[in-house]
Amino acid sequence: MELSSAPLHKGQLLWRGLLLAASLLIYWSSPTTAQISVEEVPPHVDEGENALLLVHNLTETPRVFYWFKGKNEDKKNEIARFITSTNVTRTGPAYSGRETIYRNGSLLFQNVTLNDSGPYMLKISMQNYDARKILVLFHAHPNSL
Ligand SMILES: *[C@@H]1O[C@H](CO)[C@@H](O)[C@H](O)[C@H]1NC(C)=O
Ligand SMILES: *[C@@H]1O[C@H](CO)[C@@H](O)[C@H](O)[C@H]1NC(C)=O
Ligand SMILES: *[C@@H]1O[C@H](CO)[C@@H](O)[C@H](O)[C@H]1NC(C)=O
Ligand SMILES: *[C@@H]1O[C@H](CO)[C@@H](O)[C@H](O)[C@H]1NC(C)=O
Ligand SMILES: *[C@@H]1O[C@H](CO)[C@@H](O)[C@H](O)[C@H]1NC(C)=O
Repeated sequence: MELSSAPLHKGQLLWRGLLLAASLLIYWSSPTTAQISVEEVPPHVDEGENALLLVHNLTETPRVFYWFKGKNEDKKNEIARFITSTNVTRTGPAYSGRETIYRNGSLLFQNVTLNDSGPYMLKISMQNYDARKILVLFHAHPNSL
C-alpha cells in the first residue's frame, strides 16, 4: 500500500505545482489585458459639430483598426480600416467622407448628422492576431438654436 500510494502522491504534488504555475501566469498576464475603452469627445455632440471617439488603454500598437457602422463586422458596414505597419487608411462601403481614423485608432467625425447616431463597432487586430471588439453607442443631438 505504501509503495503504490507514493507515486500517486508525487503526481498530486506535480499537479499542484502546475496549477499554481497556471494561476500565477493568469495573475501576471492580467495587467496587460487592460480593458480597452472608447470615450466620446465631447460627451455631448450637436448636429454639425465634430466628434472624436478616443480609444483608451491600448497596451500595444495593434496591426489593424477597423471601424464599422452598426453592431456587426459586416463588410458592407465597414467605414474604414487603418493598417499601422504602413499608416494606410482603406475606406469601406459605409464611409461618408467625414470620418478619419488616426494612428491610435481614434475616429474623428466631422460635421456630424443625426443619422450618425447609433451603434458603432471598433475591431482591433492585435500583433498576435487576437481580435478585440468594442461596441460604442454614439448619439448626435439636434442642433437647438
Ligand atoms: C484601463 O484599464 C484598467 C484595468 O482594466 C481600468 O481599471 C481603467 O479604468 C481603464 N481606463 C480607461 C480609461 O478605460
Ligand atoms: C507611421 O506614422 C508614424 C507617426 O507619424 C511614424 O513614426 C512611422 O514611421 C510611420 N510609418 C510608416 C511606415 O510610414
Ligand atoms: C464640414 O462642413 C464645412 C462647412 O459646411 C465644410 O466646409 C467642410 O468641407 C465639411 N467637412 C467635411 C469633411 O465634410
Ligand atoms: C489619438 O490621436 C488623435 C489625433 O492625433 C489625438 O487627438 C488623440 O488625443 C489621441 N488619442 C489618445 C487616446 O491619445
Ligand atoms: C438619413 O437617413 C435616412 C434613412 O436612412 C435618409 O433617408 C436621409 O437622407 C438621411 N439624411 C442625411 C442627412 O443623410
